[in-house]
Amino acid sequence: MDKILIHGGRPLSGSIKISGSKNSALPILAATLLTREPCIVHGVPDLSDTNYMLQILTHLGAQVERASGTVTVTAEKVHSVAPYDVVRKMRASVCVLGPLLGRCKEATVALPGGCVIGDRPIDLHLKGFEALGAAVRVQAGDIKVFAPKLSGAVINMHGKFGPTVLGTDNIMMAAVLSDGVTVIEGAAQEPEVVDLANFLNQMGAKIEGAGTRRIIIEGVSELHGTEHWVIPDRIEAGTFLVAGAIAGKGVTVNRVEPEHVRAITDVLTRCGFPIKFADRSISILPNGAATALELKTEPYPGFPTDMQAQMCALLSTSKGISAVTDNVFPQRYMHVAELKRMGAKVQLEGATAVIEGVDRLLAAPVMASDLRASAALVLAGLKADGVTEVSRVYHIDRGYERLDEKLGELGAHVERVKAA
Ligand code: EPZ
Repeated sequence: MDKILIHGGRPLSGSIKISGSKNSALPILAATLLTREPCIVHGVPDLSDTNYMLQILTHLGAQVERASGTVTVTAEKVHSVAPYDVVRKMRASVCVLGPLLGRCKEATVALPGGCVIGDRPIDLHLKGFEALGAAVRVQAGDIKVFAPKLSGAVINMHGKFGPTVLGTDNIMMAAVLSDGVTVIEGAAQEPEVVDLANFLNQMGAKIEGAGTRRIIIEGVSELHGTEHWVIPDRIEAGTFLVAGAIAGKGVTVNRVEPEHVRAITDVLTRCGFPIKFADRSISILPNGAATALELKTEPYPGFPTDMQAQMCALLSTSKGISAVTDNVFPQRYMHVAELKRMGAKVQLEGATAVIEGVDRLLAAPVMASDLRASAALVLAGLKADGVTEVSRVYHIDRGYERLDEKLGELGAHVERVKAA
């Protein structure tokens, strides 16, 4: 197991290129199961999560070829059972349920296990499949869905914590090959949902309203192959913009959709950092310590929960007292105990982290617990005095392509070492 050593106190400067979006590539790769014809997907980031998805597709019978960021999937023949040992590594595997149900009218996928970021039920996904006419059974740790045929329906995908992203994706993918019209109310509006809908429409689907709370899907009898570029990763872009705020003297992220990160750049502006926009690139300029603020995560276009931990790292050395509330994953605070080991002053009150800014952080050995928490610890290490040692970096490799190398391109002194 690797560790990352971050030598703190080095100012970052320069520019990096943003990779393709993990959270867009995963459902798009799953959607290739909906046709027998080859699908060519460009901009697939080299991550353990995308590799897991390719293993699942191969296990289901699809032919998968990869040439650096381009993946070609040909699912001429597929079977509909994705067992525990294949899907247990990644919760997002649940998004093969929709395409398998759509194409094979049946699917068996192991129920996702627990998750450190909080309770993550899939009741809305299952409710949606039932509304389309599928029988749903959870048995011996497996989800079994089957239907002689699927029929269009009106389905509300809005839950206690707002809309569900992968739930919206799953129902869209099951409904494209169903009879009649499906209307998803309370749909997720994330750019990754729009990217999936665009991909499906390129395959011959009839989807309207993606990006709004109401998506209309007119079922078709068959889909064909296509070629698609995955959108840039807005969370990777946000993470590097926070790196620029926490330790930068002028950092630019290239190949990013400014609109997709609007909520993030608005918050960094409120923290006092000048931001410059150019065609598909964004620069953040230094301005000393961040201004403390009150921040709430919300579904898109609100401030993303996947940037909450990184903001906690930045606000740990802010001027004043901040309150960060996660309204999407209220328990998503595994990074707090580790930041406190580095000298941060953070009090958890329910779903809110109250952060009293300190002048400096001190390096310490810390433990990554999940993808975004580990990114936050790396960012804190850039600011801290001394060498911070982050262990269990496999969490980082799930969602950041070459994070340590890209930080090195910006002048950081970051080393990846084998754990003893
Ligand atoms: C997606 O997860 C992302 N993952 C997550 O990113 C992201 O945090 C999340 O959306 C929210 O933006 C991928 O796209 C692969 P949800 P998803 O269903 O779809 C509750 C990362 O760091 N809910 O939108 O699984 C749920 O518990 C990852 O890259 C139900 O109650 O999240 C949560 O509180 C982590 N019932 C809220 O809705 C359901 O059936 C939003 O979850 C489904 C969800």
